[in-house]
Amino acid sequence: MMIFLLLLFSYITFHLYKLIFQNRAHSCCYMLHYECYKGTEDRMLNTETCAKIVMRNKNLGLQEYRFLLQTIVSSGLGEETYGPRNVLEGREATPVLTDSLSEFDDIAFDTLDALFAKTKISPTDIDILVVNVSLFSPEPSLTSRVVNRYKMREDIKTFNISGMGCSASIVAIDLVQQLFKSHSKALAIVVSTESIAPNWYCGKERSMILSNCLFRSGGCSMLLTNNGSLKGKAVMKLNQLVRTHLGANDEAYNCCIQMEDKLGHEGFLLTKGLTKAAAIAFKLNLRVLVPKILPLKDLLRYVLHTYRRKKAKGGVAPSLEAAGEGLNMKAGIQHFCIHPGGRSVIDGVGKSLGLNDYDLEPSRMALHRFGNTSAGGLWYVLGYMEAKKRLKRGDRIFMIGFGAGFKCNNCVWEVTRDLGDGNVWGDCIASYPLPPLNVSPFLEKFSWINDEGRTDVDLTSAFNKV
Ligand SMILES: *[C@@H]1O[C@H](CO)[C@@H](O)[C@H](O)[C@H]1NC(C)=O
Ligand SMILES: *[C@@H]1O[C@H](CO)[C@@H](O)[C@H](O)[C@H]1NC(C)=O
Ligand SMILES: *[C@@H]1O[C@H](CO)[C@@H](O)[C@H](O)[C@H]1NC(C)=O
Ligand SMILES: *[C@@H]1O[C@H](CO)[C@@H](O)[C@H](O)[C@H]1NC(C)=O
Repeated sequence: MMIFLLLLFSYITFHLYKLIFQNRAHSCCYMLHYECYKGTEDRMLNTETCAKIVMRNKNLGLQEYRFLLQTIVSSGLGEETYGPRNVLEGREATPVLTDSLSEFDDIAFDTLDALFAKTKISPTDIDILVVNVSLFSPEPSLTSRVVNRYKMREDIKTFNISGMGCSASIVAIDLVQQLFKSHSKALAIVVSTESIAPNWYCGKERSMILSNCLFRSGGCSMLLTNNGSLKGKAVMKLNQLVRTHLGANDEAYNCCIQMEDKLGHEGFLLTKGLTKAAAIAFKLNLRVLVPKILPLKDLLRYVLHTYRRKKAKGGVAPSLEAAGEGLNMKAGIQHFCIHPGGRSVIDGVGKSLGLNDYDLEPSRMALHRFGNTSAGGLWYVLGYMEAKKRLKRGDRIFMIGFGAGFKCNNCVWEVTRDLGDGNVWGDCIASYPLPPLNVSPFLEKFSWINDEGRTDVDLTSAFNKV
């Protein structure tokens, strides 16, 4: 009897162990390769071209031109970002379906071709496909477009997620990670980009016109797997991923929203509530994520600090700068990959986590070179770190994404081998980092934009000058 029980016990333990162990193996998520998109020369948007596009909008008056040009000059974007083709061709007010489709094709197929070529994995080996484009959903879907182009298998699981905003690619990775739990040894592809061709705002509401100044073309494709045999080929392994959603709060929900202005021009409204929403979401997210990544000592210090802080002060307006107060993230993390949405986001998060110029350099330079490419943005930052040969085996990367909703999605990757591929940065990495510019060359030409008192500017001649 005793022997029988013992046998039964060991049998059960063995199977339990196997089950747990296998589950763990399945839920591993390795990044085999990622490939960012680099536009063609003819789509480069420098400040002068931007100004030309702004001036083309006859709905605007002097005050609006001034506001827009000021934004462009101080945006942190450089002279080499890429715009959608229809905007460069002067058709931003009347986009057609083929504009959106060809924008998607350029980005998705270009990066996927490179992804398959570099990893030597065939499209027919892919088990899961996630396409993540916020603002464009044609029929048949974009996932079908990819399956059709690469003639993928009939049993492929496809997901097209849309409307998720800038932090979409992290949402997509979370989805893949969850799917991996029920699909062993699978290969998954995530295509993450934003469709800006049909979403150019042509009205005159200041709060809506902002997005035109910052959004640029770009995107990224990634190949992920939970097949342990491919571990040796992986570049990174997903350690943690935490998503925070503030959609239940009306102010947060409405702070970044697609809508029509009074005259019926469609566009994106960005309100002042955005910074507050970002601060709250970031703080809540850190509260969940931090215990999983920081050493105990630093964790205790943080808890103590928060406790003291709560006792000392009542209601302080939430700010992004203060969201990470008392945290010593550097104790567990070596690299910080912040969504290059704009200067204020990067600086805010940097201050919040006590980061220095070296830590923020990749995000700032990605904003300068490629602009705010929405969901793809994080991967250009990662590409910069790699091209600068900063990523060493065992290093941990903290990815921070914000998006409409309002959402804050963060994750931590562990680098699994020394990385040093030049990627999209290859031809220009040597000239980075750039020193901070004091005066934009553009400002010298258009000094009137900062001269609020002047109302006598001859717009026609200003227009001809650009
Ligand atoms: C997602 O794909 C399905 C079919 O594959 C399609 O019916 C649906 O409209 C797509 N949704 C979006 C938002 O693209
Ligand atoms: C991809 O989807 C996620 C979540 O579904 C969303 O947050 C993100 O914005 C999407 N990416 C783009 C580029 O729209
Ligand atoms: C896992 O990867 C190994 C090595 O490439 C491969 O031989 C094997 O077929 C893969 N397993 C599955 C289920 O695809
Ligand atoms: C960056 O672009 C996205 C649109 O894809 C927008 O939702 C977001 O607000 C932008 N970031 C900033 C700081 O403007």
